Amino acid sequence: MYHKPHFVICGRPDILKLVKTPEVIAVIGGQWGDEGKGKIVDYLAATADVVIRSQGGDNAGHTVINDHGKFGLHLVPAGIFNPKTLNIIGAGVALNPKTLMKEIGELTERGVSFENLVISPKSHLAFDYHQFIDGHQEAARGANRIDTTKRGIGPTYMDKAERIGMQARLLLDPDRLLGELAGILEAKRARLGVNDKTLDVSYYEAFVREASKTLGGFIRDTEPLVEKHLAAGSRFVLEGAHGTLLDLDHGTYPMVTASNSTTGGLLVGAGMPPLALTKVVGIFKAYQSKVGAGGMPSELHGELADTIREKGQEYGTTTGRPRRIGYFDAVAARYAHRLNGFTDIAITKVDTLADLGDVKIATTYTNKNGNTVDFQTDNRLLTECTAHYQNFDGWTTADLQGVTTFDELPASLKKYSDAMMDAMPGAKLSFVGVGRSRDQLIHD
Ligand code: IMP
Ligand code: MG
Repeated sequence: MYHKPHFVICGRPDILKLVKTPEVIAVIGGQWGDEGKGKIVDYLAATADVVIRSQGGDNAGHTVINDHGKFGLHLVPAGIFNPKTLNIIGAGVALNPKTLMKEIGELTERGVSFENLVISPKSHLAFDYHQFIDGHQEAARGANRIDTTKRGIGPTYMDKAERIGMQARLLLDPDRLLGELAGILEAKRARLGVNDKTLDVSYYEAFVREASKTLGGFIRDTEPLVEKHLAAGSRFVLEGAHGTLLDLDHGTYPMVTASNSTTGGLLVGAGMPPLALTKVVGIFKAYQSKVGAGGMPSELHGELADTIREKGQEYGTTTGRPRRIGYFDAVAARYAHRLNGFTDIAITKVDTLADLGDVKIATTYTNKNGNTVDFQTDNRLLTECTAHYQNFDGWTTADLQGVTTFDELPASLKKYSDAMMDAMPGAKLSFVGVGRSRDQLIHD
């Protein structure tokens, strides 16, 4: 049954105010991923009733540092550390059962409980053959390769769109899964014209039975749970993966991931009525980073890029690849805001930019003809853009020492963050990350 009066419409409480209204917070990467979402989600999850991973797969990596230690989460929602929080892997996720079992095993060893995990039966399983095909496609692309994470996430979503995907529900019936898989793999072998051990169903026989035993108990319809929590006025966090500029539709195509990482995608992937949403928190690193190929107009090269990469430990959580580094790109941020409608902004890693002297923000682009242009999502046109910068006084590590409120932030950093926020009119600066640990987060 649809409890309409319980919802909040566009952030305004329902006039009837019959019950506690739910709070539904989407956490979105504002750039090319790796903005520090893990830290913000971990903070928000500590008081959340429900955390939902809605899209993407184990190509995402969220670093969380909390009382339990340091974790690189790929599939498990960040609310798992709070035993009272319901953690949902939603319908929109590309779920690699091998990765999930490994993650559950490692976290269990470190004392984390999984009684509060639910997997949507509609999520799509990513198998080793998807990874094989990912590598095969990348090799075929040659110079035009995307530099994917090779986790097989693109091929998993391709199968989903082709209506030959394997939903997680099939893990409850391993015989049926293996039967369907045999036919799919036969067709794949014929189409690809190659053979590989991962394209033979016998490769999966034992694994599928083990995955069925280990993960089967977590598979449960998520919609009634979401409905119940909405009606009870619960607090939800929708944990976005990747970043806005990697969105399949709205990103820098074709250098994008295979899911919708913008606000709308999270609601679809969570299976939640869109009008339930009350907040959209955009996460932005104080500078820019990118893993993989594609245009990046504010990219830095040389010593400064190396210094920021080392200070910020800018290496992929999933692949360990060094991330490309650039100045904060306000043109891209303005575009991200237009797509997501951020209500709140988190600026992370301002400590990484400390002690570097002056800092810059890219405020405009010109194209190859010298004309001022907006953010370009055609990757080729983006690579032809030149960024133009505004200069700002820097700040030091000493300036950030012991700072716990917005007022205590150094004046130079306030000017810098004001300039970042100018790109996102109407949004409020709600978080500033000043260090790696959980408590080095200024919030209102
Ligand atoms: P895929 O998601 O593995 O298909 O890779 C497509 C592109 O998205 C590549 O450039 C990846 O490096 C990038 N990408 C995917 N997920 C992330 C992420 O979580 N952080 C940063 N880059 C990512
Ligand atoms: Mg990451």
